[in-house]
Amino acid sequence: MKEVILLLEDHSHRYYVLDDPQISDSEYDTLFQELLEIERLHPEWVTPESPSQRVGGAALDTFEQVEHRLPMLSLENAFTDADLHSFEDRLLRFLLTEDRPEYIAEPKLDGLAVELVYEHGLLVLGSTRGNGSIGEDITAQLRTVSSVPLRLRQTEFRRLEVRGEVFMDRQGFEELNRQREEEGEALFANPRNAAAGSLRQLDPKITAERPLRFFVYGIADSEDVECKTQLELFQLLKVLGLPVNSLAAPCHTMEEVISKFAELATLRHDLAYEIDGMVVKVNDFSLQARLGAKARAPRWAIACKFPAVQATTTLIKVDFQVGRTGAVTPVAILEPVDVGGVIVSRATLHNGDEIRRKDLRIGDTVLIQRAGDVIPEIVKAIHDKRDESAKPITMPLDCPVCSHPLLKLDAEVVTRCVNPHCPAQRLRTLVHFCSKAGLDIEGLGKKSIEQLFELNLIEDLPDIFSLERENLITLDGWGEKSADNALAGILAAKQPPLSRFLAALGIRYVGEVTATLLENTFGSLEKILAVTKDELLEVEGLGEQAAGSITDYFSDSSVQEMITAFQNVGVSPLIVEKKREDLLFSGEVFLFTGSLKKISRSEAKKLVKDNGGQIASGITQKMTCLVVGEKPGSKLKKSQEKGKKILSESDFLQVLDGAL
Ligand code: IVH
Repeated sequence: MKEVILLLEDHSHRYYVLDDPQISDSEYDTLFQELLEIERLHPEWVTPESPSQRVGGAALDTFEQVEHRLPMLSLENAFTDADLHSFEDRLLRFLLTEDRPEYIAEPKLDGLAVELVYEHGLLVLGSTRGNGSIGEDITAQLRTVSSVPLRLRQTEFRRLEVRGEVFMDRQGFEELNRQREEEGEALFANPRNAAAGSLRQLDPKITAERPLRFFVYGIADSEDVECKTQLELFQLLKVLGLPVNSLAAPCHTMEEVISKFAELATLRHDLAYEIDGMVVKVNDFSLQARLGAKARAPRWAIACKFPAVQATTTLIKVDFQVGRTGAVTPVAILEPVDVGGVIVSRATLHNGDEIRRKDLRIGDTVLIQRAGDVIPEIVKAIHDKRDESAKPITMPLDCPVCSHPLLKLDAEVVTRCVNPHCPAQRLRTLVHFCSKAGLDIEGLGKKSIEQLFELNLIEDLPDIFSLERENLITLDGWGEKSADNALAGILAAKQPPLSRFLAALGIRYVGEVTATLLENTFGSLEKILAVTKDELLEVEGLGEQAAGSITDYFSDSSVQEMITAFQNVGVSPLIVEKKREDLLFSGEVFLFTGSLKKISRSEAKKLVKDNGGQIASGITQKMTCLVVGEKPGSKLKKSQEKGKKILSESDFLQVLDGAL
């Protein structure tokens, strides 16, 4: 077991720190599954530092405050070469010398500053910067970030306080926003906000699902370590297993710093993550110590900021788009303008609150920017330039497509069209159904679906399966080949795996993960159609929102008609059979009452499921066995009356043990 952990740690180190992976992702996965299997058989061997423990523990009620032993400072900014030269002049004056120091230049990562405390090599505390002196305890959240080591590769330091940046790379950010769009949730404006929103989650399980990354850039103080320079420190941090940004580079002179900055400015667009400048630090720690800090920032470092890619233009009008889940998103239509080499004519406004917060009006001169390469955004309206003709923007009361009254729930920022027959939603649902996130039907991309929808050749999902060759061949831009291609794709999609089919339907809050959970728990479409909200809430990993959304969806009569229509056109989702008959708890349906002492209830439920059993929602006909903890409730008496099997917690564990 130790060996598997060491191997996994070693591969993580190669991947995150040395940037030199030696096995593929799937080989890593296999090894990881092996660890899970060993830990399942021997739960007593699990340590908090095991790579399996990154899934996120119990949700917190609040974030505890953490006082930083040494304040986490910020940096002064330099915008021009002259600013950098005067930074150097100030250093020399302060040090009373003419010897110019050496520097180290590092990308300035655009994320969130965090502090990690390791004691004897183990991660014991992780916190946000907060106001610099007091931050918040986000240890549980940081433990889910794969590039944050839970254990250093050496244990010599009694206590080591390292600092660095948690961020989201572009791909992770885009994927997350794509998922959120699909599930009808508000989008994050940029990777920085997404990283901040993901870390500040009381429930670490949510953080665990977000693609966060980490780079270390320093330590709180260099007294305990014997390094003489920042460069040496980076060597040490790497040896300890902490990921250092590979673009950090020593510079002998300020001229070198300046040319490094120019280099980074061209390189930045090719990086997998966003940076907003370059941090320049005096390399020598003894000089750093002599220079010290002013109130908010050290004297030995400065941040060179990239000029923002911004421009001003006019807000011509606001369009309102209706998404698949009915979410109405305002989109700013702009007088086209060149922003850092890209012509921008639209920008998302996210929602009505954002329009109000920025006090935008039609006709305003607005400052827009491209945050990295991501969606252009309106930074602000230039109110001095506003004239009387500027018109306020009002969120529509009715759907711009179907005229159904829109709804804005208090808990949501999003305004929605709740008409299930809204053509905009239907079209988007059709597009989603055929897309990669759905059944991935080759030959039926967005453009084709739009065309077929406009010609009324498809109105609802099952119509896709009744399309005929003659319908397709005559379409604009289609020929025999593309028609046959699409028909082959449609035929192949008639027996999709159940989870894929469920995810393709476009039920709110049901993406790939939830769909797989449903397939694994209920096993057939029939069972899922009949499932109650309480039964769904029993499923580990399904929340209130998803459960409500699923039952609302399947209880809608038009959905039920649609399912029948699917059957009529020969669509039958397949269940990938799992060999579960010969497992310990096959055929058993467990219920728990009272508090368990040796394991948690969720662990107990997991053990049942892992061994082929099911969990009951209450004392039902199906339920076969009650496990009784301390202070059992009325379920005990009722189960006895109904003649169900009763096990104490230790009986239950013994039965399991016998099987191990
Ligand atoms: S050093 C004493 N190095 O920039 C200051 N900071 O404006 C220690 N940042 O809060 C900061 N990349 O979150 C340093 N390579 C880097 C950085 C970096 C990003 C952030 C950091 C800090 C902010 C200061």
